[in-house]
Amino acid sequence: MGWIDRSDFENWIYQYMGISGFSDYLPNGLQVEGTDRISKVVTAVSINRHVIEEAIKVGAEAIIVHHGLFWKNDEPTVTLYRKQRIKLLLENEINLYAFHLPLDIHPEISHNRMILEGIGVESSAITPPPPEFSGLEYGLIGRFSRGIEFKDLVSALNSYLEVDSKYFNFGGERVETVLVVSGAGRTLLDKVLNLGVDAYITGDAQENTGYICKEMSFNYIYAGHYNTEKPGIVALGDKIREIFNIDVVFISQSNEL
Ligand SMILES: [Fe+2]
Repeated sequence: MGWIDRSDFENWIYQYMGISGFSDYLPNGLQVEGTDRISKVVTAVSINRHVIEEAIKVGAEAIIVHHGLFWKNDEPTVTLYRKQRIKLLLENEINLYAFHLPLDIHPEISHNRMILEGIGVESSAITPPPPEFSGLEYGLIGRFSRGIEFKDLVSALNSYLEVDSKYFNFGGERVETVLVVSGAGRTLLDKVLNLGVDAYITGDAQENTGYICKEMSFNYIYAGHYNTEKPGIVALGDKIREIFNIDVVFISQSNEL
């Protein structure tokens, strides 16, 4: 295990993540500049003070997250928790990288692909929703060729994500097609119903989700925004370890939301 130059690292990761020309809710790539050489990387779902403190503790020169700083609707001021986070990063010369939508739609390591493969769908049986279903382009459909019992689908998801997911089981007991949209997929329910899959796996739900699922006889599983957005960032860390032969540590946090 050795050092890599930040510029070499960035050349590779920007290309691998395909970030050029991406319009997103936050800047993808380097968000806070630190030291020029990297020997250890910390990955996490979201930036927060605990993650930065862990990075300092293990001596990492770079943090890579899915949810970074500087969201479109954030106050454009360096105050409160933002001040503390940025101060800690700058004082310790830690580089902060964020990859948001590029990770959601990544052809190899998107959360949705990792989840579908993790629950036993063959990679050849994973397809994007047809293009006419606009709004669902971040999702992926998996087909179980012989079908799966709904309760077995829930167990497979629970054991892959190491969670106790919640669900509305108003659809058929036998599931062949499942749409996965990691994170905040609750708002897509109307579009998902039009798509006509047997089950929907996403991160969250809202007050009226259960009523709609009941009225539409639909199967809906929600495993947490955090939990459904862990697989891609863990896979990105594995990829970095493999390519650069450096230490990569995933900081796991317990977060049901
Ligand atoms: Fe997210």
